[in-house]
Amino acid sequence: MSKYINPTQTAAWSALKANAIELQKVHMNDLFKSNPNRKKDCSIQIDSLLFDYSKNLINPQTKELLLQLANEVQLKESIQQLFSGEKINMTEQRAVLHTALRDFKYSGIKVDDVAVYPLVNDARNQVKSFSEKVISGTWKGYSGKAITDVVNIGIGGSDLGPQMVMEALSFYQNHLKVHFISNVDGDAAHAVLKKLNPETTLFVVVSKTFTTIETLTNATTCKNWLMQTAPESAVKNHFVAVSTNLKAISEFGIDAENAFPMWDWVGGRFSMWSAVGLAIALGLGYDHFEQFLQGAHAADTHFQNADFSQNIPVIMGLLTVWYTNFRDVKAETILPYAESLNKLVAYLQQLFMESNGKSVDRNGEKIDYQTGTVIFGAPGSNSQHSFMQHIHQGTQLVPADFIGFEQPLYGDMHHHKILMANFQAQTMALQEGKSADAVHLTMKMEGKENDINRLLPYKIFEGNRVSNTLLFNKLTPYALGMLIALYEHKVFVEGVVWNINSFDQFGVELGKEMAKKLG
Ligand code: F6P
Repeated sequence: MSKYINPTQTAAWSALKANAIELQKVHMNDLFKSNPNRKKDCSIQIDSLLFDYSKNLINPQTKELLLQLANEVQLKESIQQLFSGEKINMTEQRAVLHTALRDFKYSGIKVDDVAVYPLVNDARNQVKSFSEKVISGTWKGYSGKAITDVVNIGIGGSDLGPQMVMEALSFYQNHLKVHFISNVDGDAAHAVLKKLNPETTLFVVVSKTFTTIETLTNATTCKNWLMQTAPESAVKNHFVAVSTNLKAISEFGIDAENAFPMWDWVGGRFSMWSAVGLAIALGLGYDHFEQFLQGAHAADTHFQNADFSQNIPVIMGLLTVWYTNFRDVKAETILPYAESLNKLVAYLQQLFMESNGKSVDRNGEKIDYQTGTVIFGAPGSNSQHSFMQHIHQGTQLVPADFIGFEQPLYGDMHHHKILMANFQAQTMALQEGKSADAVHLTMKMEGKENDINRLLPYKIFEGNRVSNTLLFNKLTPYALGMLIALYEHKVFVEGVVWNINSFDQFGVELGKEMAKKLG
């Protein structure tokens, strides 16, 4: 007998198929008309976040069946296993404990008989004291000058998170300038280096494995650049590293005392909560980094304890399953209405697509249902002037997550009102659409009667397009931590239902092997 449950064998799966056929004839506008409390019924609040999923093509029966599906695939038990450090990454036989990185109370969790909390706590203290020294100027470059610039060298999970957070929270940034070198494209590395002074630059080399060709190539280039003007002994003032591979760090020439730990029970794409987030602590200050962790922890607590019917990541994940497997949806879009969240989608692409782009289940069997969605997106309102046409009038259904903030950071309410009016208008337009009668009337009022026959079909919006709204009070470190952790748990929910291991990434290996032979 198979150890893991195939979702298509559950009773809920068959019932959802029937429910999907029934709902194909229903317009979302009718769902709102039949229940004036729909918005309230389909909203969940945690802290300053309001999650509104009322604009989905679901009726109460759909929700019930999706929750039944979650129970049938034993989601509750899986969440318990995640948080308690069981080796749920079954292919690599590893625990998955990014949640422990943002837990500030002693938990007693052990991996291979080693308590996790003291390791996490020590690493956090190391990040705190190091970042405070660099920020205050106590940490000096080789010539006695304080550090002015930090360069994070890493790729994938060792780059995308810190880079995204630094841009998202630049409002809170201190005097340190933080740069990122990730691509093995040398032009990119040299474009950063030419702006820097070797005497005042600190390099943070981040690589879980310390074997990644891009990171090692870039780190070597940066070290050579430093050595052009500085003595050999300068490396200890200008290079620190974050990795599980202490041996490789030392072979690279970085002092053991400049090494920050990582553990194999944290996946790369879930790692910015560890010392991988050192660049964040440096650029924003440790207190902001800690608030970021606290926000994520609040999301963890919610995910662990809230009833599934009121559980944001559970609902988000189940909705994706619903559209993917019962409405043939292939892609989802994420639309933050904050320009500073420009890099959020790139971060979430790795999180979702490296985790759930799998076609073999946890029993080792080839999957015959769809898993994973293509994630794309960009900040609004810019996205409204590019790909939103496709979402409003294209032939595919593309569910959209709208992320917004009630207050702007710099207090400019004039801009913010326009931004948020667009935010709201998009979700309404997607849902409500515009009927032939309404188009007719508008064109008449605009004095364009002569064009009505010619243009009418093009100007109709069917509506009935799906969106979720995630509305926070303000873009703070805490809110951002919460947002990211909610998405991490959404990934987990999807993975459990699809019966895949969301925590390995064998799919990235073949290309690496081939490049090694060709390079
Ligand atoms: O190639 C994919 C990957 O392994 C990601 O999963 C990871 O985040 C990235 O490369 C970087 O790996 P490392 O931190 O070991 O350098």
